[in-house]
Amino acid sequence: MKNVVGQAVRGKDFWDRKSELAKIWQAIENGTHPLLVAPRRVGKTSIMYKILDEPKDDYAVVYVNTESADSENDFWHKLFNALMDEEFKNKNKLVLKSFYARIKTISIKKISTSGIEFDDGKVLDYAEAFEELIKEIDSDKKLIIMMDEFAQTIENIIKYASIREAESLLKTHRSLRQNPKITSKVTFVYAGSIGLESVVAKLDAMKFINDLNSIKVTPLSKDEAAEFAHSLNTLIKSDEIFYLLERIEWLIPFYIQLIIQEIHAICLEKSLHVISKETVDQAIEHALDHRNHFEHWLARIKSAFEKDEFKFAKEILNLLSDQGTLESKEISNLADKYGLEHEVAKEIIHALVYDGYINNNENPKIYRFNSPILKLWWYKNVAN
Ligand SMILES: Nc1ncnc2c1ncn2[C@@H]1O[C@H](COP(=O)(O)OP(=O)(O)O)[C@@H](O)[C@H]1O
Ligand SMILES: [Mg+2]
Repeated sequence: MKNVVGQAVRGKDFWDRKSELAKIWQAIENGTHPLLVAPRRVGKTSIMYKILDEPKDDYAVVYVNTESADSENDFWHKLFNALMDEEFKNKNKLVLKSFYARIKTISIKKISTSGIEFDDGKVLDYAEAFEELIKEIDSDKKLIIMMDEFAQTIENIIKYASIREAESLLKTHRSLRQNPKITSKVTFVYAGSIGLESVVAKLDAMKFINDLNSIKVTPLSKDEAAEFAHSLNTLIKSDEIFYLLERIEWLIPFYIQLIIQEIHAICLEKSLHVISKETVDQAIEHALDHRNHFEHWLARIKSAFEKDEFKFAKEILNLLSDQGTLESKEISNLADKYGLEHEVAKEIIHALVYDGYINNNENPKIYRFNSPILKLWWYKNVAN
């Protein structure tokens, strides 16, 4: 197993996530539309690649990342391109014969940002064209359309197009999911690293997503994490593995890969054959120097929040990185300091929990960082 740090994994490098995959397949087979939720770097894209590369027999799967779309048309444009992509087409042209045949007869003249113009002069916007083409599918296989970073797309559309467009896209999706002619042929899988619910709450548009089947992608269990670490580096013995996992605490594959990579580098540099706890500590120190692996946590709150909201969120994280925990009471005081209404402050805390920064799992009134590694990085690079 290769240690792939940062990129979503595929093929042999994928560490099996049996229970997540089983949950997702079950949701699909039950006829629901899953929403995969987990912060960045927990492993959503890798799981979707696994579904893409090894679908069950009765399904054809297309994957599209719409993160860079910032208008409704842009979203559909990307989805169309994914369906017209040569690799997908070659793999599925027999299964989706009637779909591609239909596309041919109406011979699309122009795929532009404004929609699709057909040969007979008919012009449809993307959503209508999509619906019309999907209805043509005549196959024993159902199409699974996986849309990665969907919540980010909605957030972009709110920011760079309009609230109305964001609502319209959510509404169109909702009506596609309610149309039996569509759902007999297609299952939609949505994924997002930021909470779709927090984004949608701002629009009062919960009614457009409350039918989705929300599936949490969780960190690895201790046993899984130990096996995963061992598969990446066979030199490291169980005592040190458990020490490593204790220090990482939030056991997402990414942090395990990152620290193991640094352990490997130290071993090479010092010609070590035995890995001690000191080596683990040193590897964690080195891992923190990779700014690019952590910077997005700061960038995210900068782009998601308005000025005072950002200052409030940053101060909470600064304090947490220093003192470890923060009580609800102190958070309320901070909200007052920044002149934020308590409802707004609550939404911000909710977003920080949802997006993977902090949790209050042990005590509903006490917050702390999810990841001690991020906490260390934050303390060194943001708070001080
Ligand atoms: N099942 C897995 N097996 C091996 N590595 C994984 C797995 N899931 C995630 N990773 C690693 O974690 C990091 C983030 O994975 P990715 O799938 O891109 O997460 P997300 O889409 O949630 O941000 C990558 O470095 C990837 O190699
Ligand atoms: Mg991803």
